[in-house]
Amino acid sequence: MRTALITGATAGIGRAFAFELAARGMNLVLVARDEPRLLALAGELNFDFGIEVQVVCADLSLLAQIDEVACRAAADDIDLVVNNAGFGLNQPFVGGDLKAEQQMLDVLVTAVMRITHAALPGMVDRNRGGVINVSSVASWLASGTYSAAKSWVTTFSESLATQLRGSDAHVMALCPGFTRTEFHDRANMETATIPEWMWLDVNDVVKEALTDFAGQHAVSVPGVQYKSLGLVAQYLPRPFVRKLSVMQARRR
Ligand SMILES: NC(=O)c1ccc[n+]([C@@H]2O[C@H](COP(=O)([O-])OP(=O)(O)OC[C@H]3O[C@@H](n4cnc5c(N)ncnc54)[C@H](OP(=O)(O)O)[C@@H]3O)[C@@H](O)[C@H]2O)c1
Repeated sequence: MRTALITGATAGIGRAFAFELAARGMNLVLVARDEPRLLALAGELNFDFGIEVQVVCADLSLLAQIDEVACRAAADDIDLVVNNAGFGLNQPFVGGDLKAEQQMLDVLVTAVMRITHAALPGMVDRNRGGVINVSSVASWLASGTYSAAKSWVTTFSESLATQLRGSDAHVMALCPGFTRTEFHDRANMETATIPEWMWLDVNDVVKEALTDFAGQHAVSVPGVQYKSLGLVAQYLPRPFVRKLSVMQARRR
């Protein structure tokens, strides 16, 4: 049976990936910091789906712990890696907490790069499987360290998808818009003014992502509203994108 490694599996999009992949019969390696939550989730998935579940308790802002996860991702049994762990920050860059900005870059960029670097050689040799890197529609905006980091994730994934053309191993960036998870509460972000049509259901995001991954898309943008907004954001002149980013920042 094939195995998927999911980072940030205790909540939101990562948790939804865990349930969907378990329902499809994959064994799982679940990575996050909250050990009791990881163990409870592992027990539930094992009970509901009869799959094998391993947990790795790791803080992906710390290099040594990133490399432990990378080492597990390099093993022969791993067919799919979902680099999903992440968080937002609700602070201005000027005068904001530098340590938090650095941790964000470490989780969103360094961990994604090192885990992908470890996982891909075996997948390429076996000519199957691949990596889904959870980016964001924010990767098209100009909105702080978060959107800069997500721009890196999208471009990095597109670049690997291009490099792997001809192989059945594949890399895809998943770019969700507003999705109901713990993300906004954890970052103390105000969401009351976000219109209902902008919200995505987490299970729909994951199902659409897995369909796009199977179709070897380089970038997956779930939801018809974000596919349209994505086209606009990607082809708008950058001064308009900057205006959009200011409007988005005012929502917080
Ligand atoms: N929700 C949205 O609207 C939205 C939109 C676009 C993109 N995204 C992206 O989707 C991904 C998942 O976010 P989500 O919405 O599902 O958020 P969430 O519900 O808050 O879940 C975040 C997950 O990441 C883990 N995590 C956070 N910091 C970590 C660290 N230092 N080390 C290891 N694990 C860590 C958390 O687990 P522990 O606390 O147990 O460590 C949790 O499992 C993120 O990359 C986010 O940027 C979200």
